[in-house]
Amino acid sequence: MQKTLLLSFAFAASTFGAIADSTTVEINDFSHETAAEKADRMAWFDDARFGMFIHWGLYAQPAGVWKGKDYPGVGEWIQKHAEIPVAEYEPLQKTFNPQSYDPESWVKLAKAAGMKYIVITTKHHDGFALYDSKYTDWDMGGTPYKKDLLKPLADACRKHGLRICWYHSIMDWHHPHYGDKDIHPWMGNGTIDQPDMAIYCKFMKDQLHELLTEYGDISLLWFDGQWEGSWTHEMGKELYDYCRTLQPDIIINNRVDKGRSGAAGMTKEGTFRGDYGTPEQEIPETGFGEGAYWESCMTMNDTWGFKSKDHNWKSSETLIRNLIDIASKGGNFLLNVGPTADGIIPQPSVERLQDIAKWMDTNAESIHGTSANPFPEITWNGRCTRKETPTGTVLYLHLFEWPENRELTLPQFPNKIKSATLMHADTALDYELQSDSWQINLPTQQPDPIASVIRVNLEGDLKLEAPQP
Ligand code: GLC
Repeated sequence: MQKTLLLSFAFAASTFGAIADSTTVEINDFSHETAAEKADRMAWFDDARFGMFIHWGLYAQPAGVWKGKDYPGVGEWIQKHAEIPVAEYEPLQKTFNPQSYDPESWVKLAKAAGMKYIVITTKHHDGFALYDSKYTDWDMGGTPYKKDLLKPLADACRKHGLRICWYHSIMDWHHPHYGDKDIHPWMGNGTIDQPDMAIYCKFMKDQLHELLTEYGDISLLWFDGQWEGSWTHEMGKELYDYCRTLQPDIIINNRVDKGRSGAAGMTKEGTFRGDYGTPEQEIPETGFGEGAYWESCMTMNDTWGFKSKDHNWKSSETLIRNLIDIASKGGNFLLNVGPTADGIIPQPSVERLQDIAKWMDTNAESIHGTSANPFPEITWNGRCTRKETPTGTVLYLHLFEWPENRELTLPQFPNKIKSATLMHADTALDYELQSDSWQINLPTQQPDPIASVIRVNLEGDLKLEAPQP
């Protein structure tokens, strides 16, 4: 049974008039979910393996350059890097007019690449909302474009069978009540004597109320900017429970609370809220075992938000191998695009996604719905994923390199092999039991220099013992 807590607020609801807002919600306590209930809720995420991150906002206009000076670091942090006072940053709202925005083309690009969900910045650290909020004018309503950017993306996702998810920053450089001692003249809270986080928390809940009640089912919430002292464990716990009260099946990342440890991103021991770990710009050495959910988020160049001069693009090979690497460790890959102020996904990102799409055309089943490599060690340069099916285990062997002798020796297991297929051109391969392990005979040419996949169907569920004579 869920315990119901009644909310108390330092700030009276009447301040905002008689509209339904966060104060009318009785928050349920979600700390008693069983592992099986959680596994049910996480099932789609665990199958997805691949999603698109979209960092989009006013910062796409300066695109890394402010008053003629290039700022190093990520583009969406330009307000902080260039210490731009709120009053000087605000005019960016008056020129934000993404006329070329075509959300359906974004969704199609993501879908073709095999991405199953999209996470978009509803509000980043600069506090600007990508929709028209009742609770602030610092939003799309005040731009020349005027329209909500989120709704058409959510609609396009649903039309094409992708899940829509919201990124939402806890840290807010614009709101006068965000923060405590850490007041800088360039921040919104520099304009008042004493910021009050209770007021800010209510504002955040009000906006999340809009985002979670006016857009249909939202699959996941990606919080961020939780690391400053003004955000506490108590606040994280309450925010988590609040959001799940509004959408009980929603998945919420571990940046909602204070338990995330370093860039490695997994949650420390303790009673922290958050459903999964968020490694950033890195892939863990190994997975974390059954029931540990995680997602590595990564940029294609060196920025999340668009930067006109960042041309340091990762190759398609790197991105495809990253996806394979992450899947082989049981995680998800959340790959970022940073659209321009006009609403265009930069061409180098499009090209990389198209290359991934080409690889996925042949090999998607070796990624989606798979679980981690079951073997303590593999003998080839590459990775391995697996699927349990009613008729037995399927292994997917990803080869980054072709063995010179064209013989692929599998780790030891007693199961019989039913078939081995090179997924490229659906080619059946010969295999034989050699003393104590199976050997697959490969054709002369490696069909795909990035990663060629061999699907091996086993009789029964994989056992990790030596082969039987
Ligand atoms: C960091 C940055 C932020 C970015 C996020 C994505 O926490 O502050 O700009 O949105 O990483 O993981």
